[in-house]
Amino acid sequence: MNIAENLKQLFSLENKSVIFTGAAGGIGSAVAEGLALAGAEVALCDINLERLKKVQEKIEAAGGKATIHQLDVTDLDNIKTCVKEIADHYGHIDILVNCAGVNRREGLADVDEKTYDKMMSINLKGVFFMSQTVAYYMKEQKKGSIINIGSHNTGSILGGCSVYGATKCGVLSLTRSMAVEWAKYNIRANCVSPGHIQTELTVPTWENPVRAKYLLDRIALNRPGYPGDITGICIFLASEASSYITGTEVRVDGGCIAGGQPWPYDTNF
Ligand SMILES: NC(=O)c1ccc[n+]([C@@H]2O[C@H](COP(=O)([O-])OP(=O)(O)OC[C@H]3O[C@@H](n4cnc5c(N)ncnc54)[C@H](O)[C@@H]3O)[C@@H](O)[C@H]2O)c1
Repeated sequence: MNIAENLKQLFSLENKSVIFTGAAGGIGSAVAEGLALAGAEVALCDINLERLKKVQEKIEAAGGKATIHQLDVTDLDNIKTCVKEIADHYGHIDILVNCAGVNRREGLADVDEKTYDKMMSINLKGVFFMSQTVAYYMKEQKKGSIINIGSHNTGSILGGCSVYGATKCGVLSLTRSMAVEWAKYNIRANCVSPGHIQTELTVPTWENPVRAKYLLDRIALNRPGYPGDITGICIFLASEASSYITGTEVRVDGGCIAGGQPWPYDTNF
Protein backbone atom coordinates (compact mmCIF):
# COMPACT_ATOMS: atom_id res chain seq x y z
CA MET A 1 0.00 0.00 0.00
CA ASN A 2 1.07 3.54 -0.72
CA ILE A 3 2.68 4.89 2.47
CA ALA A 4 1.03 8.30 2.30
CA GLU A 5 -2.43 6.76 1.86
CA ASN A 6 -1.76 4.23 4.61
CA LEU A 7 -0.71 6.97 7.01
CA LYS A 8 -3.80 9.01 6.22
CA GLN A 9 -6.03 6.02 6.82
CA LEU A 10 -4.26 5.08 10.07
CA PHE A 11 -4.66 8.48 11.68
CA SER A 12 -7.92 9.57 10.06
CA LEU A 13 -11.05 10.00 12.16
CA GLU A 14 -13.34 10.23 9.12
CA ASN A 15 -16.78 8.70 9.77
CA LYS A 16 -16.14 8.47 13.51
CA SER A 17 -18.23 10.17 16.17
CA VAL A 18 -16.90 11.40 19.48
CA ILE A 19 -18.54 12.21 22.81
CA PHE A 20 -16.38 14.79 24.53
CA THR A 21 -16.98 16.00 28.12
CA GLY A 22 -15.43 19.22 29.38
CA ALA A 23 -15.42 20.40 25.76
CA ALA A 24 -15.89 24.06 26.73
CA GLY A 25 -12.66 24.13 28.74
CA GLY A 26 -9.10 25.04 27.79
CA ILE A 27 -7.79 21.56 26.97
CA GLY A 28 -11.22 20.24 25.93
CA SER A 29 -11.91 22.91 23.32
CA ALA A 30 -8.45 22.55 21.73
CA VAL A 31 -8.53 18.74 21.61
CA ALA A 32 -12.15 18.62 20.42
CA GLU A 33 -11.26 20.96 17.56
CA GLY A 34 -8.28 18.76 16.69
CA LEU A 35 -10.45 15.61 16.58
CA ALA A 36 -13.00 17.43 14.40
CA LEU A 37 -10.31 18.61 11.98
CA ALA A 38 -8.99 15.04 11.80
CA GLY A 39 -12.40 14.15 10.38
CA ALA A 40 -14.58 13.19 13.36
CA GLU A 41 -18.03 14.52 14.18
CA VAL A 42 -17.79 15.72 17.75
CA ALA A 43 -20.60 15.89 20.32
CA LEU A 44 -19.36 18.69 22.55
CA CYS A 45 -20.63 18.21 26.12
CA ASP A 46 -20.15 20.52 29.08
CA ILE A 47 -22.09 22.10 31.92
CA ASN A 48 -21.36 25.52 30.36
CA LEU A 49 -23.61 25.85 27.30
CA GLU A 50 -22.64 29.42 26.44
CA ARG A 51 -19.00 28.49 26.04
CA LEU A 52 -19.88 25.35 24.12
CA LYS A 53 -21.58 27.52 21.49
CA LYS A 54 -18.33 29.41 20.94
CA VAL A 55 -16.35 26.17 20.59
CA GLN A 56 -18.89 24.87 18.08
CA GLU A 57 -18.69 28.10 16.07
CA LYS A 58 -14.89 27.88 15.96
CA ILE A 59 -14.94 24.26 14.82
CA GLU A 60 -17.54 24.93 12.13
CA ALA A 61 -15.65 28.01 10.92
CA ALA A 62 -12.59 25.78 10.46
CA GLY A 63 -14.63 23.28 8.44
CA GLY A 64 -15.32 20.70 11.17
CA LYS A 65 -18.61 19.21 12.39
CA ALA A 66 -19.90 19.45 15.96
CA THR A 67 -23.10 19.40 17.99
CA ILE A 68 -23.50 20.82 21.50
CA HIS A 69 -25.08 19.19 24.54
CA GLN A 70 -25.44 20.57 28.03
CA LEU A 71 -24.31 17.88 30.45
CA ASP A 72 -23.57 17.66 34.14
CA VAL A 73 -21.35 14.60 34.50
CA THR A 74 -22.31 14.22 38.17
CA ASP A 75 -25.93 13.50 37.24
CA LEU A 76 -26.49 9.91 36.07
CA ASP A 77 -29.95 10.61 34.59
CA ASN A 78 -28.49 13.51 32.63
CA ILE A 79 -25.65 11.25 31.39
CA LYS A 80 -28.08 8.56 30.19
CA THR A 81 -30.36 11.02 28.39
CA CYS A 82 -27.48 12.90 26.81
CA VAL A 83 -25.62 9.79 25.62
CA LYS A 84 -28.84 8.37 24.12
CA GLU A 85 -29.56 11.66 22.35
CA ILE A 86 -26.05 11.64 20.85
CA ALA A 87 -26.17 7.95 19.90
CA ASP A 88 -29.57 8.46 18.20
CA HIS A 89 -28.25 11.49 16.33
CA TYR A 90 -25.00 9.96 15.07
CA GLY A 91 -26.08 6.30 14.94
CA HIS A 92 -22.82 5.18 16.57
CA ILE A 93 -20.34 6.29 19.23
CA ASP A 94 -16.76 5.49 18.36
CA ILE A 95 -14.76 7.56 20.81
CA LEU A 96 -15.34 8.94 24.30
CA VAL A 97 -13.07 11.58 25.78
CA ASN A 98 -13.59 12.15 29.51
CA CYS A 99 -12.06 15.59 30.00
CA ALA A 100 -14.42 17.40 32.45
CA GLY A 101 -12.55 18.10 35.66
CA VAL A 102 -12.11 20.60 38.48
CA ASN A 103 -9.48 21.39 41.07
CA ARG A 104 -9.48 23.33 44.30
CA ARG A 105 -6.08 23.78 45.88
CA GLU A 106 -6.25 23.36 49.66
CA GLY A 107 -4.13 21.65 52.28
CA LEU A 108 -5.04 18.09 53.18
CA ALA A 109 -6.14 19.22 56.64
CA ASP A 110 -8.30 22.08 55.30
CA VAL A 111 -10.55 20.23 52.84
CA ASP A 112 -14.19 20.04 53.91
CA GLU A 113 -16.70 17.37 52.96
CA LYS A 114 -18.45 19.54 50.35
CA THR A 115 -15.22 20.17 48.42
CA TYR A 116 -14.23 16.50 48.71
CA ASP A 117 -17.60 15.27 47.40
CA LYS A 118 -17.70 17.80 44.55
CA MET A 119 -14.26 16.88 43.21
CA MET A 120 -14.82 13.15 43.57
CA SER A 121 -18.17 13.52 41.87
CA ILE A 122 -16.97 15.46 38.80
CA ASN A 123 -13.48 14.00 38.34
CA LEU A 124 -14.05 10.34 39.24
CA LYS A 125 -17.75 9.44 39.43
CA GLY A 126 -18.32 11.38 36.19
CA VAL A 127 -15.65 9.36 34.35
CA PHE A 128 -17.03 6.10 35.78
CA PHE A 129 -20.65 6.58 34.71
CA MET A 130 -19.92 8.29 31.41
CA SER A 131 -17.74 5.34 30.45
CA GLN A 132 -20.17 2.74 31.75
CA THR A 133 -23.06 4.32 29.82
CA VAL A 134 -21.11 4.72 26.57
CA ALA A 135 -19.63 1.21 26.86
CA TYR A 136 -23.10 -0.33 26.34
CA TYR A 137 -23.22 1.31 22.89
CA MET A 138 -19.59 0.46 22.07
CA LYS A 139 -20.19 -3.18 23.07
CA GLU A 140 -22.97 -3.45 20.49
CA GLN A 141 -20.65 -1.99 17.85
CA LYS A 142 -17.78 -4.27 19.01
CA LYS A 143 -15.49 -1.28 18.86
CA GLY A 144 -14.56 1.84 20.76
CA SER A 145 -11.80 3.99 22.15
CA ILE A 146 -12.06 5.71 25.53
CA ILE A 147 -9.59 8.45 26.42
CA ASN A 148 -9.55 9.56 30.05
CA ILE A 149 -7.74 12.75 30.96
CA GLY A 150 -5.56 12.09 34.01
CA SER A 151 -2.91 14.42 35.41
CA HIS A 152 0.67 14.99 36.44
CA ASN A 153 -0.66 14.16 39.91
CA THR A 154 -1.07 10.47 39.05
CA GLY A 155 2.71 10.17 39.31
CA SER A 156 3.96 13.00 41.49
CA ILE A 157 1.97 15.17 43.85
CA LEU A 158 1.92 18.94 44.32
CA GLY A 159 1.02 20.47 47.70
CA GLY A 160 -2.67 21.30 48.09
CA CYS A 161 -3.78 18.68 45.57
CA SER A 162 -4.74 15.76 47.83
CA VAL A 163 -8.31 15.22 46.65
CA TYR A 164 -7.52 16.15 43.04
CA GLY A 165 -4.56 13.73 43.03
CA ALA A 166 -6.73 10.98 44.51
CA THR A 167 -9.39 11.50 41.82
CA LYS A 168 -6.80 11.36 39.04
CA CYS A 169 -5.10 8.23 40.46
CA GLY A 170 -8.63 6.81 40.49
CA VAL A 171 -9.08 7.76 36.82
CA LEU A 172 -5.88 5.89 35.95
CA SER A 173 -7.05 2.84 37.88
CA LEU A 174 -10.46 2.95 36.19
CA THR A 175 -8.71 3.19 32.81
CA ARG A 176 -6.92 -0.09 33.54
CA SER A 177 -10.17 -1.76 34.63
CA MET A 178 -11.91 -0.61 31.44
CA ALA A 179 -9.00 -1.92 29.35
CA VAL A 180 -9.03 -5.30 31.06
CA GLU A 181 -12.80 -5.89 31.29
CA TRP A 182 -13.85 -4.45 27.92
CA ALA A 183 -11.03 -5.70 25.69
CA LYS A 184 -13.23 -8.63 24.66
CA TYR A 185 -15.64 -6.14 23.09
CA ASN A 186 -12.75 -4.44 21.28
CA ILE A 187 -13.12 -1.38 23.49
CA ARG A 188 -9.77 0.23 24.27
CA ALA A 189 -9.17 2.65 27.15
CA ASN A 190 -6.15 4.85 27.74
CA CYS A 191 -5.26 7.70 30.04
CA VAL A 192 -3.62 10.91 28.83
CA SER A 193 -1.93 12.74 31.71
CA PRO A 194 -1.10 16.38 30.96
CA GLY A 195 1.64 18.12 32.90
CA HIS A 196 1.27 21.82 33.64
CA ILE A 197 -0.89 23.33 30.92
CA GLN A 198 -1.93 26.98 30.78
CA THR A 199 -5.72 27.12 31.08
CA GLU A 200 -8.27 28.70 33.41
CA LEU A 201 -7.87 25.75 35.74
CA THR A 202 -4.21 26.63 36.29
CA VAL A 203 -4.47 30.44 36.54
CA PRO A 204 -3.77 30.12 40.30
CA THR A 205 -0.48 28.39 39.51
CA TRP A 206 0.83 30.23 36.43
CA GLU A 207 -0.14 33.71 37.68
CA ASN A 208 1.64 33.18 40.99
CA PRO A 209 5.36 33.99 40.38
CA VAL A 210 6.64 31.65 43.08
CA ARG A 211 4.58 28.73 41.80
CA ALA A 212 5.37 29.56 38.15
CA LYS A 213 9.14 29.45 38.85
CA TYR A 214 8.71 26.24 40.86
CA LEU A 215 6.95 24.65 37.89
CA LEU A 216 9.34 25.89 35.19
CA ASP A 217 12.28 24.51 37.19
CA ARG A 218 10.55 21.15 37.02
CA ILE A 219 9.79 21.13 33.28
CA ALA A 220 12.67 19.90 31.09
CA LEU A 221 11.38 21.82 28.05
CA ASN A 222 11.29 24.94 30.26
CA ARG A 223 7.91 26.25 29.14
CA PRO A 224 4.29 25.81 30.18
CA GLY A 225 2.24 23.33 28.21
CA TYR A 226 -0.49 24.72 25.94
CA PRO A 227 -3.86 23.04 25.29
CA GLY A 228 -2.84 22.22 21.70
CA ASP A 229 0.03 20.12 23.07
CA ILE A 230 -2.54 17.51 24.14
CA THR A 231 -4.22 17.20 20.73
CA GLY A 232 -1.81 14.91 18.84
CA ILE A 233 -1.83 12.09 21.38
CA CYS A 234 -5.63 12.16 21.54
CA ILE A 235 -5.94 11.90 17.74
CA PHE A 236 -3.50 8.98 17.88
CA LEU A 237 -5.35 7.17 20.68
CA ALA A 238 -8.71 7.75 18.97
CA SER A 239 -7.46 6.40 15.63
CA GLU A 240 -6.63 2.98 14.20
CA ALA A 241 -2.93 3.83 14.55
CA SER A 242 -3.23 2.86 18.23
CA SER A 243 -5.26 -0.33 17.69
CA TYR A 244 -3.00 -2.45 19.97
CA ILE A 245 -2.66 0.13 22.72
CA THR A 246 -4.93 -0.17 25.73
CA GLY A 247 -4.64 0.34 29.48
CA THR A 248 -1.68 2.71 29.19
CA GLU A 249 -0.98 6.14 30.59
CA VAL A 250 0.67 8.65 28.27
CA ARG A 251 2.24 11.70 29.87
CA VAL A 252 2.33 14.98 27.99
CA ASP A 253 4.41 16.97 30.43
CA GLY A 254 7.49 18.47 28.73
CA GLY A 255 9.77 16.14 30.67
CA CYS A 256 8.39 16.92 34.11
CA ILE A 257 8.19 13.43 35.59
CA ALA A 258 11.52 12.66 33.89
CA GLY A 259 13.25 15.15 36.19
CA GLY A 260 12.69 18.68 34.88
CA GLN A 261 15.62 21.11 34.67
CA PRO A 262 18.93 19.41 35.47
CA TRP A 263 21.05 20.62 38.37
CA PRO A 264 24.44 22.17 37.45
CA TYR A 265 26.84 19.56 36.05
CA ASP A 266 30.13 19.50 34.10
CA THR A 267 29.87 19.01 30.35
CA ASN A 268 31.78 19.89 27.16
CA PHE A 269 28.57 19.69 25.09
N1 LIG B 1 -4.59 22.51 32.90
C1 LIG B 1 -3.74 21.62 33.37
O1 LIG B 1 -2.56 21.93 33.65
C2 LIG B 1 -4.17 20.20 33.59
C3 LIG B 1 -3.17 19.30 34.00
C4 LIG B 1 -3.51 17.98 34.19
C5 LIG B 1 -4.82 17.57 33.97
N2 LIG B 1 -5.77 18.46 33.59
C6 LIG B 1 -7.12 17.95 33.38
O2 LIG B 1 -7.55 18.30 32.07
C7 LIG B 1 -8.97 18.43 32.07
C8 LIG B 1 -9.33 19.78 31.48
O3 LIG B 1 -8.74 20.80 32.26
P1 LIG B 1 -8.60 22.31 31.78
O4 LIG B 1 -7.29 22.79 32.27
O5 LIG B 1 -8.96 22.44 30.36
O6 LIG B 1 -9.72 22.98 32.72
P2 LIG B 1 -10.92 23.95 32.36
O7 LIG B 1 -11.40 24.46 33.68
O8 LIG B 1 -10.54 24.94 31.32
O9 LIG B 1 -12.01 22.95 31.74
C9 LIG B 1 -12.77 22.06 32.53
C10 LIG B 1 -14.15 21.95 31.90
O10 LIG B 1 -14.92 21.02 32.67
C11 LIG B 1 -16.25 21.53 32.73
N3 LIG B 1 -16.99 20.98 33.87
C12 LIG B 1 -16.82 21.26 35.19
N4 LIG B 1 -17.74 20.61 35.92
C13 LIG B 1 -18.51 19.90 35.05
C14 LIG B 1 -19.63 19.02 35.19
N5 LIG B 1 -20.15 18.77 36.39
N6 LIG B 1 -20.15 18.46 34.08
C15 LIG B 1 -19.64 18.74 32.86
N7 LIG B 1 -18.60 19.56 32.65
C16 LIG B 1 -18.04 20.14 33.74
C17 LIG B 1 -16.06 23.04 32.87
O11 LIG B 1 -17.24 23.77 32.56
C18 LIG B 1 -14.90 23.30 31.91
O12 LIG B 1 -15.37 23.63 30.63
C19 LIG B 1 -9.41 18.25 33.52
O13 LIG B 1 -9.83 16.93 33.71
C20 LIG B 1 -8.16 18.53 34.30
O14 LIG B 1 -8.16 17.88 35.55
C21 LIG B 1 -5.47 19.78 33.38
